[in-house]
Amino acid sequence: MFLSAPVKVLMVCLGNICRSPTAHAVFQQRVRAAGLQTQVLVDSAGTGDYHIGAAPDPRTRAAGAKRGYDLEGLRARQVCASDFEVFDYVLAMDDSNLRELARQCPPEHRHKLRLFLEFSESSVRSVPDPYYGDADGFEQVLDLVEAGADALLRHLRSRARG
Ligand code: 4NP
Repeated sequence: MFLSAPVKVLMVCLGNICRSPTAHAVFQQRVRAAGLQTQVLVDSAGTGDYHIGAAPDPRTRAAGAKRGYDLEGLRARQVCASDFEVFDYVLAMDDSNLRELARQCPPEHRHKLRLFLEFSESSVRSVPDPYYGDADGFEQVLDLVEAGADALLRHLRSRARG
């Protein structure tokens, strides 16, 4: 895969402490494993402002660490206007965040907004919010995110082949 400019991907959920940091770390790991870290840049943000500056939720970090993903250096930030210009893909974890992004996004950048799971074959469209649930919810997030990250990388590779 070779692209003239790096592709920039932003993962988005509500708080940026559970789902989108998981997607950020998992997809970053896939990109590095494929040797594409200079060609695919990854970041994450939340539509909400509740947790700005916070590390990922301890349950998210623990579940990720069990599967070898390091989320320790990530800090929550809120989606801002320049994100719609800077990023090529702005990927929402669920429909409510996609709606909020569409509300904020200038019309000329709306084509960048997609659901993160849209690239996978699965009929599951959303990564459910695990925040108020139990530990199983965090495992489910990882299962869905791992499949979604693999599918997104396949999509970017096929796009690069033209
Ligand atoms: P996330 O999960 O959107 O996956 O980061 C949530 C984190 C915090 C809250 C909701 C969802 N909250 O209401 O504080």
